[in-house]
Amino acid sequence: MDNKPLILTIAVLGGTGKEGKGLAYRWAKAGYRVLIGSRSSEKAVIAASEILELLEAAGSVVGMDNLEATTQADIVVLTVPYSAHRATLESVKDALKGKLLIDVTVPLVPPKVSKVQMPLAGSAAQEAREIIGEGVEVVAAFQNISHEHLLEDGDVECDVLVTGTSKDARHEALKLVEAAGLVGWDAGPIENSVVVEGLTSVLININKQYGSTHSGIRITGVSKNS
Ligand SMILES: NC(=O)c1ccc[n+]([C@@H]2O[C@H](COP(=O)([O-])OP(=O)(O)OC[C@H]3O[C@@H](n4cnc5c(N)ncnc54)[C@H](OP(=O)(O)O)[C@@H]3O)[C@@H](O)[C@H]2O)c1
Repeated sequence: MDNKPLILTIAVLGGTGKEGKGLAYRWAKAGYRVLIGSRSSEKAVIAASEILELLEAAGSVVGMDNLEATTQADIVVLTVPYSAHRATLESVKDALKGKLLIDVTVPLVPPKVSKVQMPLAGSAAQEAREIIGEGVEVVAAFQNISHEHLLEDGDVECDVLVTGTSKDARHEALKLVEAAGLVGWDAGPIENSVVVEGLTSVLININKQYGSTHSGIRITGVSKNS
């Protein structure tokens, strides 16, 4: 992570979708250079222009295909459905080497998305690590943050639990959590991502039973200064 340029470039693969677009908007607003990745560069260009419109052109957002976005980025954020997780990672695997991957994927298996169904690797983030191999730090984050209020500027009533392959990697990801206007916590090693990813199905269950679309979690009993 040393010798990085002052303005980091973040690629959001699947940034044409609901969660990725919301995060991209918040990072562009915070001053990062953001690349929207897609299987279709045309689709990515349209999504980038939609975000720029929301920002009234005060930001840097460019659309391109997933591989080009990964190649140009310092940090790569993966926001695709679990069914596309492996194929997307395979398509950018070589370009990821030496970079930080932040995996937002929740291993939901439709139609039973309110039931926890974890992959054999333990979690989607651990599976990502298996797919891409050595030389890439992997962090799991944002799985519990509903896309719903990300394209607005208000507070989001849900904390972000950050797990990952090293403390440095988690630290880098926590900076992006803060830049997105969210509250983040270092939640330990990547093995702990099983709990965080699984929690999303619990929240979906709560949403269904109590008529919400964006239930969340808060860490209590600890202060950021302690
Ligand atoms: N939505 C939420 O509130 C939320 C909250 C927390 C976590 N998540 C997780 O974040 C990830 C993205 O969620 P989302 O709601 O943003 O998904 P989405 O809008 O359905 O899809 C995101 C993008 O993924 C790509 N994609 C879709 N199907 C694909 C396929 N079969 N093969 C390859 N790429 C495909 C598409 O990009 P291109 O067509 O441009 O390639 C699409 O725009 C998921 O793993 C989800 O569980 C979502």
